Amino acid sequence: MSVNNAMTADFLRSAYGGESMAHMRYLIWADVADKEKMPNIGRLFRAIAYAEYAHADNHFKVLKDQKGDFTVPAGAIFGIGNTVENLQGGIDGELHEIEQMYPVYLETARYQKEKGAERTFHYALEAEKVHATLFKKAQDTAREGKDMDVATIYVCEICGHTTTDGLPDKCPICGAKSQAYKAFD
Ligand SMILES: [Fe+2]
Ligand SMILES: [Fe+2]
Repeated sequence: MSVNNAMTADFLRSAYGGESMAHMRYLIWADVADKEKMPNIGRLFRAIAYAEYAHADNHFKVLKDQKGDFTVPAGAIFGIGNTVENLQGGIDGELHEIEQMYPVYLETARYQKEKGAERTFHYALEAEKVHATLFKKAQDTAREGKDMDVATIYVCEICGHTTTDGLPDKCPICGAKSQAYKAFD
């Protein structure tokens, strides 16, 4: 898969930048949760960080023929607070992607008939919806000073689908088989 239109290429680079930075800050916030004795929330941050890596990887691969040096503007949330505050950062970032960024990027890719970009933006948009829900759940328990009650977290390495409801037979977003899921336990 490649890309032909400048605007879709710009959006892919920006999304790659945004996902790369989300990956990194979730790992940083995971360490904060561990220090606050909330290892399950730490694990959730690490699982979701892996999903963001999958999104960045997909975006980067669609851009494989666009070689060169670029300056990449991308939205990114900064700051290290306590885990309740860091989870709010997670929720805000995910909601920005769900409500603003990916719907616009996806429509542009469709309009420009960019199949590879359309697929990777679709995967990311659908996965981020689950991330926002999981961060909200985690924040509800963290507000009470408690860790999240969660068993194994599974992440689809193809599309970043993330679930705490057991290993799916088939990914509901990309259709991959259960072997495509990475376990965080
Ligand atoms: Fe996400
Ligand atoms: Fe998937």
